Amino acid sequence: MSQRAALGPPGTVWIAPSILSADFAELAQGIAAVERGGADLIHIDVMDGHFVPNITIGPPVVKAIKRVATRPLDVHLMIEQPERYVDDFVRAGADMLSVHVEASRHLHRTIALIKSRGIRAGAVLNPSTPAAALDEIVGDLDFVLVMSVNPGFGGQEFIPQSLDKLRRVRDVVARTGAPIPIEVDGGIDQTNAAHVVAAGATILVAGHAIFGGDDPEAATRALRAACGSPAGSHE
Ligand code: DX5
Ligand code: ZN
Repeated sequence: MSQRAALGPPGTVWIAPSILSADFAELAQGIAAVERGGADLIHIDVMDGHFVPNITIGPPVVKAIKRVATRPLDVHLMIEQPERYVDDFVRAGADMLSVHVEASRHLHRTIALIKSRGIRAGAVLNPSTPAAALDEIVGDLDFVLVMSVNPGFGGQEFIPQSLDKLRRVRDVVARTGAPIPIEVDGGIDQTNAAHVVAAGATILVAGHAIFGGDDPEAATRALRAACGSPAGSHE
């Protein structure tokens, strides 16, 4: 696989298990399980205790995951001034790096920096941030991430208004004429997967729904089945 990970042809849905709800003492086994279950990406949540009220992991853990994962690493930065850490996460092995529009004062510059390092760049919207916040940057993005919970913790409930938000984001993306993937993150499970896909999501992040039970491999398969869409290409 090239360093710049393919994001699948239009019409396909990708499953991105979030390791936030995995057993960190058994991370390699958890990742292997979701990969057997057909995971397309491994979603890694980085939190700094400032932008969000929680602290998780940093580049050394991403680097360790890179040694065992066979799928691209989708690194979601929930940190202030993310531009300061772009190179650290690139060196650690991130294939996709997303930054919050609320956290980066010079978003265009940050997105350009990420892309200049040869990996995919995404912008993330908090639930209260309007889809229109993407208007001036969407053409520069490799993907968009729509938060369907307030970021900071796994296992929260899906915010129902996120479906309308996804539709609005889909409209913004459609105006570019480019098939920019729309990722949705937070409270995704078998009950709402088909709804978010119908509203425009093409990459589904799921933490608790996959790692919250005792069979992450089966849960990954079940989530894909619940989407009602075919698997994407890994080429
Ligand atoms: C939340 C994180 C999510 C989280 C999703 O701040 O960005 O990626 O792991 O977890 P669930 O699927 O449990 O809501
Ligand atoms: Zn996330």
